Amino acid sequence: MKIPSNRYLLSLHPIKTNLKLYDDPLDRSMQQNAVGYFSITLFYFTIKSNKNIEKHPLPPGPKPWPIVGCLPTMLRNKSVPRWIHNLMKEMNTEIACIRLGNVHVIPVTCPDIACEFLKAKDDIFASRPNIMSAKIVSRDYLTTVLTPIGDQWTKMKKVLMTQVLSSAGHHWLYRKRVEEADHLVHYVYNQCKKVVDQEGIINLRMATQHYCANLVRKMMFNVRFLGEGMEDGGPGFEEERHVEAIFTILNHLFSFCVSDFLPSLVGFDLDGHERVMKESHGIINKYHDPIIDQRVQQWKDGTKKDVEDLLDVLITLKDDNGNPLLSKDEIKAQTTACAREAFRLHPISPFNVPHVSVVDTTVANYFIPKGSYVLLSRQGLGSNPKIWDEPLKFKPERHLSGTNNVVLTENNLRFISFSTGKRGCKGVTLGTSMTIMLFARLLQGFTWSLPPDQSCIDLTIAEDSMALAKPLLALAKPRLPPHLYPGC
Ligand code: HEM
Repeated sequence: MKIPSNRYLLSLHPIKTNLKLYDDPLDRSMQQNAVGYFSITLFYFTIKSNKNIEKHPLPPGPKPWPIVGCLPTMLRNKSVPRWIHNLMKEMNTEIACIRLGNVHVIPVTCPDIACEFLKAKDDIFASRPNIMSAKIVSRDYLTTVLTPIGDQWTKMKKVLMTQVLSSAGHHWLYRKRVEEADHLVHYVYNQCKKVVDQEGIINLRMATQHYCANLVRKMMFNVRFLGEGMEDGGPGFEEERHVEAIFTILNHLFSFCVSDFLPSLVGFDLDGHERVMKESHGIINKYHDPIIDQRVQQWKDGTKKDVEDLLDVLITLKDDNGNPLLSKDEIKAQTTACAREAFRLHPISPFNVPHVSVVDTTVANYFIPKGSYVLLSRQGLGSNPKIWDEPLKFKPERHLSGTNNVVLTENNLRFISFSTGKRGCKGVTLGTSMTIMLFARLLQGFTWSLPPDQSCIDLTIAEDSMALAKPLLALAKPRLPPHLYPGC
């Protein structure tokens, strides 16, 4: 296969400097000579180093067709992640290169190679793909997570780190987190008191998804529900639609849509992904936008004066000239990012968010062309038998040896929780608090067992996602004195 060379040289822009420019023609010609010499030297060294880079082979992978690459084979497979993982197993490789259309897709299942991408060469692999699903959800790349490297990413990352996810902000939101955990325990307790034949059987998928959604709404908009909710504390129609739309988006984001790899097909919507993304994004906007519009107006006309939630924080941020720092559209896009990231509590995607390389380089002695999509496999890393003893067994105690400080982060990428490096998760503290609070309160308040008519839990994974094919049902029995349950 012909490897494109030195493409990035063609996109070099003039570099702005603070150098004084001389008006004297002699000085100007000396200056031009110096710039010319510098450019030639840069050009020479870039070509030289690129030649060295190109001596390396691409990672192993199936032979691509001209133009379409391996897209025809991809389309024949119902589950693309499964196809990629099987292919890697067959080839006995922990890094591969699968060309889809004009993109080199590089899946990785080895922690050492993953660290080379996200640690040693973090700067090179810190961008994101420009694709339809990410563009729709981020309102044309106004947010942080999905935005390619550049000024907008830097701006939104700074807002998140300094205003939303700072330790002061984390303490400020503590009461809201406790309130929602209380509601969860109250909801489960209510189910335990219901009609005899359903007593205590909890749909844990539903309960945990809605705990996350309610909490994000509470932190963001200072409301638990978008509608009335149910009397027993469960979600109502509006909340169910909201959560369903968020999960539909998660399932269709980076889901190997044909036009992601052949951009000339954008708009034809051959696999229907574009319609699904637009519809679900429309549902979320329908709920979020009126709240945001109304709040912006309240701050403008002075009827709102107290900062009570994250939306107020975002609206009241000012730039150096005292003007609003974020536009209404930027606030709306960030809101979606917060909600989506909170749902990472259920890791439903087979790969980490793609990292895109900004120049040609080598990793693990393989050539990785500029523009490659690096996909760290959550599944492949987390169950790599070279790293994990009995990888498919549930053995929490393996994380306890040699440390008395167990954390959810995994900086050596032996599995992916919050990932690492420049594009690593910015919400580690909040994500950790939400996760631990959820499990701790459910375990503290209830004894859990199988529903009476079940002898085991069916762990079969769904065809089209990483979630269980059927929601997890379990029997809850209160284990504390009644007066310790919230609302009793
Ligand atoms: C348990 C919950 C969470 C998990 C497991 C998680 C995990 C992740 C992962 C794997 C990434 C991608 C890293 C990469 O590209 O290598 C990420 C990105 C990110 N997460 Fe989280 N996350 C969680 C909660 C949150 C929360 C609550 C927030 C707060 C708003 C948040 C904010 C972000 C942001 C802003 C990024 C994008 C960073 C960038 O692209 O520059 N996350 N997260």
